[in-house]
Amino acid sequence: MASNISLLLLFSYITTILHFIIFTFAQSDNYIIHMNLSAMPKAFSNQHSWYHSTLSQVTTANNNLNSPSSKIIYTYTNVMNGFSANLSPQDHESLKNSPGYISSMPDLPLKLDTTHSPQFLGLNPYKGAWPASEYGKDIIVGVIDTGVWPESESFKDDGMTEIPSKWKGQLCQFDNSNNSSLCNKKLIGARFFNKGFLAKYSNLSTTITNTTRDVDGHGTHTSTTAAGSKVDGASFFGYANGTARGIASLSRLAIYKNAWGKNGDAVSSDVIAAIDAAISDGVDVLSISLGDNNVSLYEDAIAIATFAAMEKGVIVSTSAGNNGASFKSLHNGTPWVITVAAGTMDREFHGNITLGNGVSLTGLSSYIGNFSASNFPVVFMGKCDNVEELKKVKSNIVVCEDNSGIVTAQISNLVEAKVVGGVFISNMPNIYDLDNIFPSIIIDQINGEIVKAYIKSYTSKNSSSIASMSFKKTIFGAKASPKVDSYSSRGPSYSCPYVLKPDITAPGTSILAAWPPNIPVLEYGTKVYNKFNVLSGTSMSCPHVAGVAALLKGVHPDWSPAAIRSAMMTTSDILDNTKQPIKDIGNDNKDATPLALGAGHVNPNRALDPGLVYDVGVQDYVNLLCALNFTQQNITAITRTPFNDCSKPSLDLNYPSFITFIDAGNSSVRTTHEFRRTVTNVGEGQSTYFASITPIKGFNISVVPNKLVFNKKNRKISFKLKIEGQKVTQKNKVSFGYLTWKDSKHVVRSPVVVTTPDFNL
Ligand SMILES: *[C@@H]1O[C@H](CO)[C@@H](O)[C@H](O)[C@H]1NC(C)=O
Ligand SMILES: *[C@@H]1O[C@H](CO)[C@@H](O)[C@H](O)[C@H]1NC(C)=O
Ligand SMILES: *[C@@H]1O[C@H](CO)[C@@H](O)[C@H](O)[C@H]1NC(C)=O
Ligand SMILES: *[C@@H]1O[C@H](CO)[C@@H](O)[C@H](O)[C@H]1NC(C)=O
Ligand SMILES: *[C@@H]1O[C@H](CO)[C@@H](O)[C@H](O)[C@H]1NC(C)=O
Ligand SMILES: *[C@@H]1O[C@H](CO)[C@@H](O)[C@H](O)[C@H]1NC(C)=O
Ligand SMILES: *[C@@H]1O[C@H](CO)[C@@H](O)[C@H](O)[C@H]1NC(C)=O
Ligand SMILES: *[C@@H]1O[C@H](CO)[C@@H](O)[C@H](O)[C@H]1NC(C)=O
Ligand SMILES: *[C@@H]1O[C@H](CO)[C@@H](O)[C@H](O)[C@H]1NC(C)=O
Ligand SMILES: *[C@@H]1O[C@H](CO)[C@@H](O)[C@H](O)[C@H]1NC(C)=O
Ligand SMILES: *[C@@H]1O[C@H](CO)[C@@H](O)[C@H](O)[C@H]1NC(C)=O
Ligand SMILES: *[C@@H]1O[C@H](CO)[C@@H](O)[C@H](O)[C@H]1NC(C)=O
Repeated sequence: MASNISLLLLFSYITTILHFIIFTFAQSDNYIIHMNLSAMPKAFSNQHSWYHSTLSQVTTANNNLNSPSSKIIYTYTNVMNGFSANLSPQDHESLKNSPGYISSMPDLPLKLDTTHSPQFLGLNPYKGAWPASEYGKDIIVGVIDTGVWPESESFKDDGMTEIPSKWKGQLCQFDNSNNSSLCNKKLIGARFFNKGFLAKYSNLSTTITNTTRDVDGHGTHTSTTAAGSKVDGASFFGYANGTARGIASLSRLAIYKNAWGKNGDAVSSDVIAAIDAAISDGVDVLSISLGDNNVSLYEDAIAIATFAAMEKGVIVSTSAGNNGASFKSLHNGTPWVITVAAGTMDREFHGNITLGNGVSLTGLSSYIGNFSASNFPVVFMGKCDNVEELKKVKSNIVVCEDNSGIVTAQISNLVEAKVVGGVFISNMPNIYDLDNIFPSIIIDQINGEIVKAYIKSYTSKNSSSIASMSFKKTIFGAKASPKVDSYSSRGPSYSCPYVLKPDITAPGTSILAAWPPNIPVLEYGTKVYNKFNVLSGTSMSCPHVAGVAALLKGVHPDWSPAAIRSAMMTTSDILDNTKQPIKDIGNDNKDATPLALGAGHVNPNRALDPGLVYDVGVQDYVNLLCALNFTQQNITAITRTPFNDCSKPSLDLNYPSFITFIDAGNSSVRTTHEFRRTVTNVGEGQSTYFASITPIKGFNISVVPNKLVFNKKNRKISFKLKIEGQKVTQKNKVSFGYLTWKDSKHVVRSPVVVTTPDFNL
């Protein structure tokens, strides 16, 4: 919801700019003004009146006829001290002498966006995480992946400030040398780790090069998604046309290549070495879009290496995996990292079909060729399962229908029959089934009926029905969005089911980001190349959250990784852009449960000011490892110290979410589970929060106390949450609700899950 509001504000702002372009003198322009709030004279009751007065003195001095109030576009109160205004150059100059003025920046016009995900997340240059963190400029994001293509425009450092002095990295390893000329103020380090891989697969040594250069493409895509520089004129063969930029576009990138070959194969020893190096180099955030399935915490390279990262204050974002929609399919379900699920955006790639009677219909397409069909005969061929029949209508546009969704077989039949183009009628469209080089569109059943009726009317008239097809249309505002996508892996966590995973959802479907120019984006007999590629997966959602973490760390440098994770989780969105609960494509478009969605869909601007956080200290994680009945050996593998204090074992980690498992069984048996949590007040000093619970059918949930009174910032208060109810007979049932703490300004929401798994924990 909040992101909808931001988008609305953004829209009205655009309208305002247009207004000024039309009605004021050409030389005046928009500026964003930073003010020093400490310098505000006591006479003013609030910032707005102070900014207003400041501006009116400036404009009066210049005899400007416009009333100053019409010139303030925006007053920023929470996340930036300042305002934006339309000013003549003279007024702008005199403003610089006003008491409290700190700095200003030009307000560059918005372009139609392409790496649309920042806008979809509500990020904008005027308010929220972007201006507050200065786009993450002092934050170093380390990416553990397949390396990068350093010449990509997304690594340009134009206008960037000096590299923060905390950076200790020395190496820029490309093409068999330490070639610092390929690094800059954006790409500040590049290292590769292949020793483990070479030792394990000595027969492959000739194919493994000594370079951080990306020969796969994946790492170039993920790193630029997190923190790529702004690049104009990006597109994927006409789709997603616009400006590409990472979430934290002024953060620095340090690249650790540990995945090799065309498939990006990696081994644990290299992963651990890469994370180890990243920590000594001084990264603030790590993005890791890879994982190990079905391993315990003490055997999971990423879990082990990231424990140290967590101790050093490094925030780690990891991908939940693309193993789809069954329970317990996720990896990186590690309590000290952020585990990211993937969802769709409101951007879709479309094609149009226009019938001979002038009716035009639109549907999903991913066709990248230059062909557009003009006035070809159009026929309906049912399930399109007979190639011989299809060959008879090969000079036609062929319409197919299959109630079970479009099947790849239909497409290959049409391709084999070499028909002009295909229109698939389906209410369960799967864009991944579509072919990029065969001109095709998926339309829904309602539009399908229109097309069929049109064709039928001509068949009875015994003359030819005709249609045209056109492609490369990028649609925004698609409803409903976001949705959790079907490939996104589901909780509970294999390695630690007592901590609810995934944590959060971020955009992962059809993400456009940079790509090495010499690696084909598509290979269909002929190879097709492009400087950007559109990919889908939790590999794509993970760097979005890494980018958001960089923005938050920029604003709150003293927050722990757990506090930053908590801020993202408790402020995330659970409603889509139709104001309904976010749906799950992998579960018949039913409401997504927290085992698919996590706490919600990340909302960076709201995460800036969460009010309360659920913090976790190192010993809390140790208490959890002890309660998992790990041996001291096993715990040491993770904590690196043999002196682990197991005097207070507890599975009840101070996490911003709740999950309890109930054996499916006799429904007359009562069950009770109690959680204890401590929240830290990171908002205003004095605040009072009240608990509210969305009920879970069949269970009583109580919170004691249900009112938290804080008199100071950083104070901690504990509470208990108790779930009581009858056992449920149905297996694999996931029931959920929310615990929400609210004060006058903040909403701190946590999912509460009660589930009856049909697998062993
Ligand atoms: C802000 O104002 C306070 C009080 O006037 C002053 O002490 C401080 O130096 C100012 N800071 C900046 C960055 O101008
Ligand atoms: C690599 O280059 C950097 C920057 O020039 C330099 O500081 C470092 O010592 C070099 N390292 C090696 C191993 O040559
Ligand atoms: C370093 O990279 C630059 C730019 O690509 C290239 O011109 C130069 O030859 C490289 N130097 C070495 C030692 O490889
Ligand atoms: C390399 O060796 C591994 C097993 O050690 C084997 O699985 C793989 O097929 C070999 N690859 C080649 C290219 O010979
Ligand atoms: C990479 O470096 C290793 C160790 O220095 C060396 O043994 C190997 O031959 C090098 N590989 C290539 C492809 O140059
Ligand atoms: C891309 O967008 C620009 C401006 O927004 C427009 O001029 C251009 O025609 C577009 N290109 C395509 C292929 O849609
Ligand atoms: C984990 O193992 C189970 C059973 O051995 C298997 O069914 C499942 O697919 C595995 N999960 C993943 C993510 O590989
Ligand atoms: C077909 O495409 C055009 C843009 O080329 C667009 O304006 C029109 O709305 C589309 N038709 C439908 C039904 O969406
Ligand atoms: C399509 O047209 C563009 C622009 O004219 C051209 O660059 C591209 O090569 C064409 N693609 C194909 C597959 O012919
Ligand atoms: C339909 O058209 C065909 C050839 O165009 C013709 O042979 C046939 O008689 C027509 N049928 C009717 C019912 O008009
Ligand atoms: C650990 O062991 C204790 C004692 O045997 C048992 O009660 C408990 O359920 C075990 N915990 C887990 C997570 O398996
Ligand atoms: C975990 O503990 C078991 C039992 O002591 C031991 O056999 C195993 O090697 C340990 N694994 C690790 C990674 O510590």
